[in-house]
Amino acid sequence: MDYAQFFRDKLNALKAEGRYRIFADLERCAGEFPRALRHDSDEVADVTVWCSNDYLGMGQHPVVLDAMREALNRSGAGAGGTRNISGTNHHHVLLERELADLHGKDAGLLFTSGYVSNMATLSTLGSRLPNCIVFSDAGNHASMIEGIRHSRADKQIFRHNDPEDLARRLAQEDPDRPKVVAFESVYSMDGDVAPIDEICDVAERYNALTYLDEVHAVGLYGPNGGGIADREGLMHRLDIIEGTLAKAFGCMGGYITGSSDLVDFVRSHASGFIFTTALPPHVAAGALASVRHLKHSDAERQALHERSATVKARLTAAGIPVAPSYSHIVPVLVGDPEACNEASWSLLRRHGIYVQPINYPTVPKGSERLRFTPNPHHTDADVDRLVNALTDVWQDLGLRAAA
Ligand SMILES: Cc1ncc(COP(=O)(O)O)c(C=O)c1O
Repeated sequence: MDYAQFFRDKLNALKAEGRYRIFADLERCAGEFPRALRHDSDEVADVTVWCSNDYLGMGQHPVVLDAMREALNRSGAGAGGTRNISGTNHHHVLLERELADLHGKDAGLLFTSGYVSNMATLSTLGSRLPNCIVFSDAGNHASMIEGIRHSRADKQIFRHNDPEDLARRLAQEDPDRPKVVAFESVYSMDGDVAPIDEICDVAERYNALTYLDEVHAVGLYGPNGGGIADREGLMHRLDIIEGTLAKAFGCMGGYITGSSDLVDFVRSHASGFIFTTALPPHVAAGALASVRHLKHSDAERQALHERSATVKARLTAAGIPVAPSYSHIVPVLVGDPEACNEASWSLLRRHGIYVQPINYPTVPKGSERLRFTPNPHHTDADVDRLVNALTDVWQDLGLRAAA
């Protein structure tokens, strides 16, 4: 086989379909977020970032940075081992306790990312629960899909956010088989929110475990930042709540929370937890400071939701097709991969506005979009510039206006 030709052909096919990914080479500027420097082959330019998942700007919060600096000075750069072999640092232990408390659970378990937490936990449950069947929402993230696939358990994909379809599928299975229902609270590409209560009702009726990914909600919703289930007083109904430390908490890492035995079971069996070096202590210390801060401070959350509502209203008023979103996320539909790339490129080159195009397979073909994530640090002037620039680009590319 001509391997080199094979790789080239596959890459060319991606390019021809307009879904070859080009990374923006950014230098984040702590203290100035959402501003960043963008390195190009021939220049360094100032940009305003409009697509960061550092939703609250906690990645530059002094409380977080101070905690990280202190831990870095005390404990050094890396954890020095897996959690089992010398890598458990006191910051990990404190953070796991804090996360368990955040979600009203007995125990928490850290992973190196949200992706790994989903992958490792679902693959462990799916493979270790005898004859398990996993019911997965059709909109679930790649990390959940991979975990379920890796488990080799039977799986049923239920219609997105549809408890009736879930109930119908559960009813057809042997009542004695172990079952897991896996879903998300906020779906990050559309910004829609799961009917958690109804899904839990159905799962309870059929004795299924519930697994909720709150990656795009932790820190952002609920009186303490525990997510949508916290906001709706439903945390006790979920067997496992999974989250990330990399988005609203501004750091890195993922986690699950649940009952002591369930978490201990995953700790004892999950390959993706056991056989990898623990998070650096200073990362755990920064995340701990962030979680603690957002448990008590509502100011960042309120500012985020105000900014998000303002951006949605302003863009809609300007005729830009903002898709309905029930969360902080602002999806603007383009519906064509080339046009989506063009719009993103024009915003960047002509207006210094950085928003990454979102194309297939991240979203279905025909629903290509720009996904804006306002944050508390976007000023009114930033919003004005965004609305004007997007209006300009929309007209220039002859894109469809909102109906
Ligand atoms: C729903 C969902 N779950 C999990 C993850 C992975 O989280 P992390 O970025 O911490 O790996 C993502 C990433 O964007 C996600 O969107």
